[in-house]
Amino acid sequence: MELDHLLRDAVRRLADAGIPSPRADAELLASWVLGLSRGELALKALTGLEVSGADAERISDLVAERCRRVPLQHLTGSAPFRSLELRVGPGVFIPRPETESVVEAVLGQLRRLGEEGIRRPRIVDLGTGSGAIAAAVAAEFPAAEVHAVELSAEAVAWARMNFEVLPDHAAQVTLHHGDLRRSPELLGELSGTFDVVVSNPPYIPADMVPTEVEVREHDPQMALYGGGEGGLELPFAVVAAAEELLRPGGWFIMEHAELQAGPIAEHCAAQPLLESVHTHRDLTGRDRATSAVLARAQRGDVAKWRA
Ligand SMILES: C[S@@+](CC[C@H](N)C(=O)[O-])C[C@H]1O[C@@H](n2cnc3c(N)ncnc32)[C@H](O)[C@@H]1O
Repeated sequence: MELDHLLRDAVRRLADAGIPSPRADAELLASWVLGLSRGELALKALTGLEVSGADAERISDLVAERCRRVPLQHLTGSAPFRSLELRVGPGVFIPRPETESVVEAVLGQLRRLGEEGIRRPRIVDLGTGSGAIAAAVAAEFPAAEVHAVELSAEAVAWARMNFEVLPDHAAQVTLHHGDLRRSPELLGELSGTFDVVVSNPPYIPADMVPTEVEVREHDPQMALYGGGEGGLELPFAVVAAAEELLRPGGWFIMEHAELQAGPIAEHCAAQPLLESVHTHRDLTGRDRATSAVLARAQRGDVAKWRA
């Protein structure tokens, strides 16, 4: 079958199934099966490439799965995230483009620390999922000592795969399997020494079930729902963990839903150990992350405040 004909058929089927970006999805699935870039695929379609029966059948089967709203990233087994192609699949949250802005803010902070003479900053990613944030930071700031905490055993397996392909992964990234609410014990003597804490925790309120089938049925429940009132239980647990993990003067940033920006900023401002609370906008201008700094007091004072 001619590639052009096959693509047109795939686009029509995907559009009929209500897929929001039928052409992009058809091209990405065909590119993946044929081992071509999207640019090469477009050229081959124009020049009348004939696709073998086996490849045409494989593409058609994947299109059928996509029509049943299986996420594109599960079908190709990968998700682009900053400079990386992360391996993803069932059991792990698919990284989102807005989280790339959080990584950008982290890199800015790491560069500022470099200017202050901190050459090997220590950073921890709480709820690492596929390892997206931790792997991107390790790839783009190789001097950083990166730690990642994750509770789901399935997600840990995906994160491990994504860390193992980093050039110097053994020296750069340490994965800790456990509950972020217990991260001070999990990280032991490193607690109180981190320069940066970053997190994209589960934050969806229980009564706001996502409308997108791909999210509702394929992202793990543990990755979605924050628990407690307004989905804020885990985000607030991240704030508490950050207070324990950071060194005095250390900085944390957390992604959240736009509606949670106010309550999270208020919560952070109410913590006696936190200062310089700041809300960050994503590329579309929405308030999607909050950062704060652990007060630059002596640890003894901090211990007193905590008592
Ligand atoms: C929204 S996902 C974000 C994943 C990844 N950081 C990203 O940005 O793509 C939240 C992650 O937190 C993990 N998680 C949920 N509860 C946790 C807990 N109590 N301790 C550690 N990780 C947890 C989930 O399994 C999931 O991988």
